[in-house]
Amino acid sequence: MVSLIIVGVILFWGAFPLPWTTAFTPLSSTGSLTHREITQMAILRKTAEVCRDIATAEGQQFTLVIDNRLTVSAVRKACSSSVLSELRFYGAILGIYLSNAAIDAVFVLSAKHHVDNEAFREGRSLITQGVASVKFSMQQGSYICARVTLGGVCHTLQDFYSHSNWVEMGNTVPFRNLTRPDLPLNNLAGPDTQTCRNCIGQNCGENILPEILLQKKLTSGYFSLFFSTKPAGKCSHGGSSDRTSTREPVGGINKDEISSSHGSYHYRAADLAINATMELLEDIRLAAGNLAFLGLMGLSRTSLLAFVIDTTGSMSNDIEVAKRVSFNIIDSRRGTPNEPSEYILVPFNDPGFGPLIRTESTDIFKERIRSLSASSGGDFSEMCLSGLLLALAGAPPFSDIFVFTDAPAKDSELQNTIEAMIESTRSRVTFMLTKPFSSRRKRGVLESQRILSRAMSQPEVQLYRDLAHVSGGQAIEVTKSTLSQATTVITDGSTSAMATVLQVMRSPAKAENFSFVLDSSLSNVTLYITGVSPIFTLYSPTGVSQSGSETDGPLGSIQTVGNLWRVKLNSDVQTGDWSISINATSYYSIKVIGQSSVDFLFHFLEQSERGDLTPKDNRPLIGENSTLFLSVTGEDSVTLTDVFLAEVSGSDTVNGTITAVGGTDFLVYLQKIPEGAFVVQMKGLLSNSSSPDRFQRQSPTQFRGSRVAIKVQSNGIVEPGNPFSLSFTLATNAAGGNYTIQARTDRNFNVSVPGSLTLDEGGSAQGTLTLIAPSDTESGSDVTLTITAVDPGSTDSNYVTLRLAVMAEVTDFTRPVCQVVKIKADCPVVCSSASWELYANLTDGNGTGIAKVFINIGNGSLSTSQVMSENGTNVTVAFYNASCCSPEVQVVAVDEVGNVGTCFTSIKRISDNNTIAIPTTNTIFSRCYFVSVSMYLLLCNLIVFFVW
Ligand SMILES: *[C@@H]1O[C@H](CO)[C@@H](O)[C@H](O)[C@H]1NC(C)=O
Ligand SMILES: *[C@@H]1O[C@H](CO)[C@@H](O)[C@H](O)[C@H]1NC(C)=O
Ligand SMILES: *[C@@H]1O[C@H](CO)[C@@H](O)[C@H](O)[C@H]1NC(C)=O
Ligand SMILES: *[C@@H]1O[C@H](CO)[C@@H](O)[C@H](O)[C@H]1NC(C)=O
Ligand SMILES: *[C@@H]1O[C@H](CO)[C@@H](O)[C@H](O)[C@H]1NC(C)=O
Repeated sequence: MVSLIIVGVILFWGAFPLPWTTAFTPLSSTGSLTHREITQMAILRKTAEVCRDIATAEGQQFTLVIDNRLTVSAVRKACSSSVLSELRFYGAILGIYLSNAAIDAVFVLSAKHHVDNEAFREGRSLITQGVASVKFSMQQGSYICARVTLGGVCHTLQDFYSHSNWVEMGNTVPFRNLTRPDLPLNNLAGPDTQTCRNCIGQNCGENILPEILLQKKLTSGYFSLFFSTKPAGKCSHGGSSDRTSTREPVGGINKDEISSSHGSYHYRAADLAINATMELLEDIRLAAGNLAFLGLMGLSRTSLLAFVIDTTGSMSNDIEVAKRVSFNIIDSRRGTPNEPSEYILVPFNDPGFGPLIRTESTDIFKERIRSLSASSGGDFSEMCLSGLLLALAGAPPFSDIFVFTDAPAKDSELQNTIEAMIESTRSRVTFMLTKPFSSRRKRGVLESQRILSRAMSQPEVQLYRDLAHVSGGQAIEVTKSTLSQATTVITDGSTSAMATVLQVMRSPAKAENFSFVLDSSLSNVTLYITGVSPIFTLYSPTGVSQSGSETDGPLGSIQTVGNLWRVKLNSDVQTGDWSISINATSYYSIKVIGQSSVDFLFHFLEQSERGDLTPKDNRPLIGENSTLFLSVTGEDSVTLTDVFLAEVSGSDTVNGTITAVGGTDFLVYLQKIPEGAFVVQMKGLLSNSSSPDRFQRQSPTQFRGSRVAIKVQSNGIVEPGNPFSLSFTLATNAAGGNYTIQARTDRNFNVSVPGSLTLDEGGSAQGTLTLIAPSDTESGSDVTLTITAVDPGSTDSNYVTLRLAVMAEVTDFTRPVCQVVKIKADCPVVCSSASWELYANLTDGNGTGIAKVFINIGNGSLSTSQVMSENGTNVTVAFYNASCCSPEVQVVAVDEVGNVGTCFTSIKRISDNNTIAIPTTNTIFSRCYFVSVSMYLLLCNLIVFFVW
């Protein structure tokens, strides 16, 4: 089928090839369900169920209907009443389905990743290894890594339903054995079993042999992009890209789209894939717990506060201020909806930096800050960027990071790596620079120290300014006495759901007029202006103006701290076209932000070898066309009118061509990636207000293209103590030469990589990288590896950022067993007057042992005790007691490696009003589900998708 989107694309793109899909289409296909939609639907439904269960347990109403019509916005609202940023929820979902889609680009030729070629065992092993890795990562709070792995696992799981004959055999429930290595895989069609016959012309309705379906033998289609060979009599995948389908038996069996060989089964396959994905998510939720599950989905309390603090001797005064400022911030947000759910602290010095301290406890965090003391620091510059890199790698995407320092960065060679991390995490960095220009000479200070504490030079400060600006943050130059006033900035910036309306910087300064649109979803709109003696005037839509020197004017109040002017608009902000005219002596920056759940996310896409659009997470190629996948958050539907790339250092723009792909998701085709840094801006109409409500948003993060591309073939496992190798390809569309390669991890793991690679004009070259994780690295830890390539003239660079899971081999495949041994239920008609009880024995056989036991369904109380059975095994005895009004219970036992065993019991007999519990053991039924996980230590895979 030629979908509408593809029609649109053909109109705009001329000779765009038809998509030769070989799995559910990764991201877009009108009329058929894509991996994106299947994954998102399963996540939304499961997340809504989790939120419903939490609400029910807390005795609260939950009215959202859980079906395939759920939207991101509706689930977010039902899950949290506060003004949480929707960006992180959408971002988490996006992270999962983009890693799902990336499988089609990275593992294009791997049969097991797509359950092609009857690779059922290998596919199952990928799934179960991956699920175990997800659980380990969640245990360590490594949600980003967990999402990447989960996306990949979902791809293989979902492909099973499209590529096998499970649906054709008449099955109406997911194939549970595929996610459980403890169950057999019976009835696989053997290597010599013929499974298909020729299609009749284009009609593949009955090409699977009747006896295969009758005997319920499992098979899947063979696939190859290059060769037509396949074992005799085997089914093919089908479609124009599959060479095997031209050989007898001709035709295929895939259900990827409604136009596929078995397209008439497409919706049934997709529906089963959604349900199978939900079952997988349920297993993860039970192993990790509801809170961790919501964390995985970016729905836990979302704000994180990260401080990177200089502890060298020259900071001795400032460090006290930094401490005071941090305490103020922490205290002012305690008990409010903005209370951070996590804190990160990274001290840095010279030559030392780190370690990264991460905690959810306010008290521990304050204690850690209190114990910082300023000392040593051999010379003037310090390891500021190394400290910042740790924070960027450790914090979730879209975090706010504050750096306190008074000295230039000694490790300025990390600038490229830092920019790469900022682009890929979209975190915002704000520098608090104390007295950057004035002499810090103090009375009574030794002569030698006086020399050490000179002021920073312009270029040294500019590095901080540039990095801040690339990230959408600011470099605020303050004196010791005004550092504490700068707190307001930190407080503003770290409230959740802050959307950027406009951000520009001019260095050198140039008198200019900037206009921007404020919409009705925005509140607490604030402008930040930094610069040297900036002169500015703000104009409202009705022409009311206020100059920068009016601290309390008709439009808002203005506060000044060092080089920062903060303009807080009055609360009854007028919607419509605003403008600001500005000039300054050397440079200025303007930033307009406001609280709103309406925001947007985007990713660059590239065309995979299979012809689909798949994600890429590094710099697109300068001068070439590109496509953005863009999602608007906070609304159920929205109209986009403009999307464009705006050059940072000028006023040139590249306009995109917008195609809606359902919900609030869009594809934006861009003719050409500009030379210099750019931001993405969008304009549109909010649809939920009566009058047209124009809005605009801008990416706070700056991006840039590159003339060099890095692609990594990452397919391995980081096992503690063992070398881990990966190969990468460097390619350029420019003159070539000797490219400098740098690779480093946030954990200072030993990495060896060629220092440079030489490319011919328009050519490419291969390199190999080896990394070793210390043998005592804990399973589930992740490591962020950044590889950067810099061109011979040091004017251009590109990068790849990989998040790898470190894991030691796991051999426990045994799931806990839950056995109900006794139920006492004597429940009268009026249920509230009595209670019932249950005893269950929980064991883990030869496994790693039961790590936790809890109630997932039911609101009674549970207690456990340990006993030794006659044959010497450990038994956990669970005693459950509940009101007769709560007639159901699900007991869950999780072992040390995340294998889950559950038992469900109900004393409910369906009756007319459904509230009466009848006491008789005959009505009691009990079933146990187990999920077991086999596992190897595992690559958590990459966060990144590759160029080229
Ligand atoms: C995009 O660029 C590629 C590579 O240069 C080219 O083959 C393709 O035709 C371009 N697409 C459009 C629509 O111009
Ligand atoms: C799945 O596992 C069950 C055991 O729980 C087994 O009876 C069944 O044959 C298996 N199905 C297939 C298709 O292998
Ligand atoms: C998927 O699950 C939903 C809800 O649990 C159910 O209504 C539907 O029938 C299931 N579909 C399939 C194909 O199993
Ligand atoms: C605006 O910010 C203030 C604190 O600065 C906060 O108390 C208030 O709730 C915010 N208003 C809205 C609508 O969020
Ligand atoms: C803007 O400021 C610069 C530097 O002070 C000055 O040279 C220039 O004339 C100013 N431009 C306008 C239009 O005022």
